[in-house]
Amino acid sequence: MIVIGSDHAGFSLKEEIRKHLDNHNLAYIDVGVFDACASDYPAQAALACEKITGGECKLGVLCCGTGIGISMAANKIKGIRAAACSDYFSAKYTRVHNDANVLCLGSRVIGPGLACELVDVFLSSDFEGGRHQKRVDMISALENQ
Ligand code: RB5
Repeated sequence: MIVIGSDHAGFSLKEEIRKHLDNHNLAYIDVGVFDACASDYPAQAALACEKITGGECKLGVLCCGTGIGISMAANKIKGIRAAACSDYFSAKYTRVHNDANVLCLGSRVIGPGLACELVDVFLSSDFEGGRHQKRVDMISALENQ
């Protein structure tokens, strides 16, 4: 199960991703927003990330205008490693090396076709562990400082 969410600027992209997940029979929880009325990306990040920290979902995809604001907010939440990506390599290796659990996308940066490709590679890539585990543990340690 994954969680998806967006602010108003990311709404149209989140809807494209939602349709893409439907077409591939992938289960998700959509925490909104559900229209393009003005909303606040930190609130949407918090709503989505609690599905991950609470154990309901393993991974998430969040959209805002740039993908950056919503990633900044998500990364304030303990246990969340969010990456704003707009290229295939980053979307893959943030799973493989950083064990990212949230992919953040910018609707004003990339189109829906690339966004869905990034979602696919993010969801299908696994954390490699090994030498990367220590570094991810060091990220977690920073949360407790
Ligand atoms: C909303 O206008 C916009 O600022 C927001 O979606 C996001 O791009 C912030 O990083």
